[in-house]
Amino acid sequence: MAANFTPPIPPTATVHMAVQPLSYLLGTWRGQGEGSFPTISPFNYTEELKFSHSPNKPVIAYSSKTWKLNTNQPMHSESGYWRPQIDGTIEVVIAQSTGLVEVQKGRFDAEQRIVKLKSALVGNASKVKEITRVFEMGNGELSYVVEMATNLMELQPHLKASLKKL
Ligand code: HEM
Repeated sequence: MAANFTPPIPPTATVHMAVQPLSYLLGTWRGQGEGSFPTISPFNYTEELKFSHSPNKPVIAYSSKTWKLNTNQPMHSESGYWRPQIDGTIEVVIAQSTGLVEVQKGRFDAEQRIVKLKSALVGNASKVKEITRVFEMGNGELSYVVEMATNLMELQPHLKASLKKL
């Protein structure tokens, strides 16, 4: 490229209309969670969640990293994209560090600051049949509950966590 190339002036940075109702999520969150399921030993973890946004794109990029509480050993991580629509529906795609992929569909309520998701597709999973995720903002904290159903167990909680924005 020529040394005197001048890049085009970027468009004014704005949050896309579809993302605005969920813009309270944008940023980095840290907190703690606990995991359980009838077939495993309960565990505690710390987590960092990131929601970011490219100006004028109707998408929120999402990532989560977790560490074992006390030892800080890395645990599960995942990343994906949240695709809200102006009608209050939302589609979320997530790739997990275990190889599992999921497409979640659901709805959000901008006033209540709640997002409810249910898997429309779970792929490349040996045990998991269904996943639901509910995210809720309240008292300055973002909390979520993840439930899953496996080949042996009906839908029930696997994770719950509470995080604060950095
Ligand atoms: C176990 C799925 C997120 C930590 C499991 C099992 C499944 C699973 C299928 C095995 C259950 C069984 O054998 O009956 C998922 C799904 C997740 C998720 C679908 C996200 C939607 C996480 C996260 C962590 C985590 C975020 C850590 C912070 C564990 C641990 C076990 C486990 C420690 C027990 C492993 C063992 O005892 O071998 N998970 N998991 N999982 N999960 Fe998750």
